[in-house]
Amino acid sequence: MSRWREDAVVYQIYPRSFQDSDGDGVGDLAGIIDRLGYVSSLGVDAIWLSPIYPSPGADLGYDIADHCDVDPLFGSLAELDRLIAECHARDLRLLLDLVPSHTSIEHPWFREHPDWYVWSDDGPANNWVGAFGGPAWTRDPESGRWYLHSFFPEQPDLDWRNPEVREAIAGVVRFWLERGVDGFRVDAADCLGKDDSLRDNPLAVEPFPFPLNPEAAKLEPRYSRGSEGIDRALRALREAAGDAYLVGEVYLPSSRLGEYLRWFDSAFSFDLLHAPWEATALQRTLLADAALEGIAWVVGNHDFSRVATRWGSERARLAAMLLLTLPGPAFVYQGEELGMTDGPEATPPRDRFGRDRFRHPMRWDDSRHGGFTSGEPWLTGGEAGGASAQAQAADPTSVLSLYRRLTAVRRELSGPLEGAELEDGLLSYRRGEDHLVLLNLGDQQRGDSRLGQGQGIVTTEPTAIREGTLAAGCGAVIRSPNR
Ligand code: NOJ
Repeated sequence: MSRWREDAVVYQIYPRSFQDSDGDGVGDLAGIIDRLGYVSSLGVDAIWLSPIYPSPGADLGYDIADHCDVDPLFGSLAELDRLIAECHARDLRLLLDLVPSHTSIEHPWFREHPDWYVWSDDGPANNWVGAFGGPAWTRDPESGRWYLHSFFPEQPDLDWRNPEVREAIAGVVRFWLERGVDGFRVDAADCLGKDDSLRDNPLAVEPFPFPLNPEAAKLEPRYSRGSEGIDRALRALREAAGDAYLVGEVYLPSSRLGEYLRWFDSAFSFDLLHAPWEATALQRTLLADAALEGIAWVVGNHDFSRVATRWGSERARLAAMLLLTLPGPAFVYQGEELGMTDGPEATPPRDRFGRDRFRHPMRWDDSRHGGFTSGEPWLTGGEAGGASAQAQAADPTSVLSLYRRLTAVRRELSGPLEGAELEDGLLSYRRGEDHLVLLNLGDQQRGDSRLGQGQGIVTTEPTAIREGTLAAGCGAVIRSPNR
């Protein structure tokens, strides 16, 4: 495995909300190209682009009508080629979002190859529930049969038992690799394995550890996710991808990621994303997840409340230090580096599952619409909180400046996570011989003899360390303290 992916910082771009270049209120590829200088200046290694493919937009791009083209809303294939080249010229890798578990109902495959989907002749075949609520089966008025969909009804599930499906998606993977992309974030990877005989899911006996739609939460997804055939599906993806980077989105506790990590380079730790801001819980998560080779650390994405809202704006700095000092890949969701908070509900709503608040456009400067668009932003109803990138770039004490320092220091860090000790709210861990990370998660200042011994190379605030103590809610990375 080459070094970049072992401890890469990957920046997630949600294209719709990054930078609009043509005034239609929707971010686009040309806008991303214009902002690559900013992305590079963050010190990240790679970009993950949420879907840019032709899509009717029922799930804002995760309902794909053609896996091998670019939606005119975002640009063209030629512009994507230019983006790939411009990224590579800046030593940035580009990861696309691969959505292998379902297509849009408007994908030509749905009519041309109905046997690539999962059908039932007489009503729903079982009690499965869609991730966004409601039955996972919908009647197709054209054929009178019922098709399976793990997400919205506009997103019929592909039948991964069918070898032609495996080959079709392998073709998609090869198509993009030949164009020069460096890998993929694999959407809903656990949905590729389903029970062959589509048995009913049992009632849940214990709560699922992460947020779920209340209807979905009533059942244990034993047969609908990560079930039979998962290994065969993951192997097919790996074979198609060769040694390209694959990071899996698997909405399961980290303890169940082993199977996926056999085939993928990494899989996201939803354990960390959904951990409460509580010292013992965070310590437990770090200890368990750091032991899994390939875990990808993440504290936010386009599906959940932003970290500065979920854990609180006053914790955005400490969260950044935590995220960027852990061993293994770390994913940063656009705007996190600005301490951006959730925005207001959009009016009218664009996402039927209520995720608009997490997807407001970037605030580049303090002009109208934050320099995102010269038109009207696609999400109406207001903007997200947080100072603009321009204002923060000029301020050495800003969250943005801290991110830049942290990605630079991260290059010096090596070796596994050691320690992860917790004392009176002070979480500390070592990275190799040379570095100690101290995070004061408590609400009191804490003394620690090691604070006086090493050289503090990054602190979350200029005044974090004073006379051998670390202020409440502050963190520090220290070089060469005695063990
Ligand atoms: C996970 C994606 O992150 C989410 O936005 C999407 O709705 C589902 N997968 C379905 O593709």
